[in-house]
Amino acid sequence: MKYKNILITGGAGFVGSNLALKLRRDFPSVSITVLDNLKRRGSELSLKRLKAAGIEFIHGDIRNREDLVFDSVDLLLECSAEPSVMAGIGSSPDYLMNTNLVGTLNCLEVARKHNAASVFLSTSRVYPISYINNLKFEEAENRFNILDGQDIIGASSKGIAENFPLDKARSLYGATKLASELVVAEYVDTYGMKAIVNRCGVITGPWQMGKIDQGVFVLWVAKHYFKQPLSYIGYGGEGKQVRDFIHIDDLYRAIKLQLENFDDYNAGTFNIGGGLKNSVSLQELTVQCEDVTGNKVEIASVREDRPADLRFFITDSTKFLELSGLSWEKDTKQTIQDIYEWIRDNEADLKPILS
Ligand SMILES: NC(=O)c1ccc[n+]([C@@H]2O[C@H](COP(=O)([O-])OP(=O)(O)OC[C@H]3O[C@@H](n4cnc5c(N)ncnc54)[C@H](O)[C@@H]3O)[C@@H](O)[C@H]2O)c1
Repeated sequence: MKYKNILITGGAGFVGSNLALKLRRDFPSVSITVLDNLKRRGSELSLKRLKAAGIEFIHGDIRNREDLVFDSVDLLLECSAEPSVMAGIGSSPDYLMNTNLVGTLNCLEVARKHNAASVFLSTSRVYPISYINNLKFEEAENRFNILDGQDIIGASSKGIAENFPLDKARSLYGATKLASELVVAEYVDTYGMKAIVNRCGVITGPWQMGKIDQGVFVLWVAKHYFKQPLSYIGYGGEGKQVRDFIHIDDLYRAIKLQLENFDDYNAGTFNIGGGLKNSVSLQELTVQCEDVTGNKVEIASVREDRPADLRFFITDSTKFLELSGLSWEKDTKQTIQDIYEWIRDNEADLKPILS
């Protein structure tokens, strides 16, 4: 690891705090600073763990340039965001735009001034909703499946690849991320900045403060753990909609490899997600949650679709997996088990947030 002064924005959040603590474990001599405004409920729980690991915490806001003054930074991991696809729907988009777009530009300025390399956490939500929902699919007994032989490039039963068209609407959230990606590319071209863009599908695992609009895997396990009702919302209300997921440990392995071999990935945009193998429908997730927790909960059915929802999303990460030689280690069962054990071991802290 050639980077000695790492700044992680959003570093008290799910992804940021996990990356900070794992980097600290693997590279004890590196200095790690995290900045977060603690907007996400539950992110305050990270502070004790970060402190115990010797990671400096700055209570700051990426919307404010005056909060972004640092002595030295040679690597920026940009993990701060309003990460909900529902953000701005039925309310003002101000916080979303000012954090995910203006805030990201402020972070890029930090990287430019310090000549730091950066990794930007983007999202599979950059891909247009209507194109995804109009893909050819089959309705199987427990799930929807994307078919091969699509009329659009970048889509197959393996999922959505980086060359999927981008010319339709994708939600305000997705738009802030795609716009940020474009600016990252310009900083690479104009200033010679080193940067990697990772378009992640659903990421999950311990320390994700799952809620209905973000973090569905944790929400599902938690509701089973605390024996509370759930709903299948949209697409007929049968729980057949499908998502792939990547365990935070596997995402860390991917990013660690990128950091250790930055030039191989520099200026690249990579889909990083669990893929077809690590994909489940809500129905299938329910069965797995019942197995692991031993609890069965009531699940209501709401037929109407939610705005910005998708029938399915599966990440085709072939480009990254072939370049890196990696394969994912954590499957559905292990991932649900990890989340379950984390909730069990931190029940008192997590109950007010996850139940
Ligand atoms: N979790 C996923 O499934 C997923 C999938 C794809 C992409 N991503 C991206 O990964 C990144 C990390 O997401 P996450 O899941 O850890 O979300 P998170 O909400 O757990 O973490 C984001 C952190 O950013 C902080 N934050 C929000 N606004 C801020 C601001 N203005 N200034 C400073 N800090 C601010 C929050 O308090 C929170 O701690 C985000 O960019 C998100 O868009 C996440």
